[in-house]
Amino acid sequence: MPEFRLLGICGSLRAGSLNAHLLHEARIAFDPADYIRADLRLPLYDGDVEARGLPESVQTLANQIAWADAVVVAGPEYNKAISGVLKNALDWVSRVKTPVWKDKPLAIVSATAGRSGGERAQDSMRACLRPFLPRILPGPEVLIGGAAQAFDASGHLVDPKARSILAALMTALRAEVRRAR
Ligand code: FNR
Repeated sequence: MPEFRLLGICGSLRAGSLNAHLLHEARIAFDPADYIRADLRLPLYDGDVEARGLPESVQTLANQIAWADAVVVAGPEYNKAISGVLKNALDWVSRVKTPVWKDKPLAIVSATAGRSGGERAQDSMRACLRPFLPRILPGPEVLIGGAAQAFDASGHLVDPKARSILAALMTALRAEVRRAR
């Protein structure tokens, strides 16, 4: 029976994002009772903007993180590191008064054009998330390389091995939610 609330965060904004496809596959594998996909179209972090009041879009994102039992972050690799879109979102949410990430079960996945599947981007995402003390799963690592060929026309992951690693990661995420309760 579906249980748990899941938040999906995609570090790429483009409509045809392969990481958005991967996030969708993660959602299906997790089978949540309720799901929200975060919107990272936030203003660029600017202390002057913050001084005028936290943007509503940032508060919404923070509320969604607080609402979720678990979070999946799907991030592209930009020049061997986290995307600016995702880092900007993390910086903004760090300015919200109530900490929302602490002890939050969190899985990271990545899809990239390159063969490594975003191994270095995942290291970078972990480093950027660690200060907020979520429960980041160490693995199994879902690294989808050559991602332009990894999804079919409907956006489904083709490789059965990749599908089973993603399923194992989502099973581990559900187990982490139970442990965190
Ligand atoms: C890339 N890409 C890329 N790929 C990779 O394997 N390693 C890398 O370091 C980079 N760097 C990089 C920088 C920038 C600015 C862009 C725009 C792209 C290619 C990237 O993996 C590919 O475009 C993915 O499809 C991006 O993810 P989405 O948008 O499909 O989710």
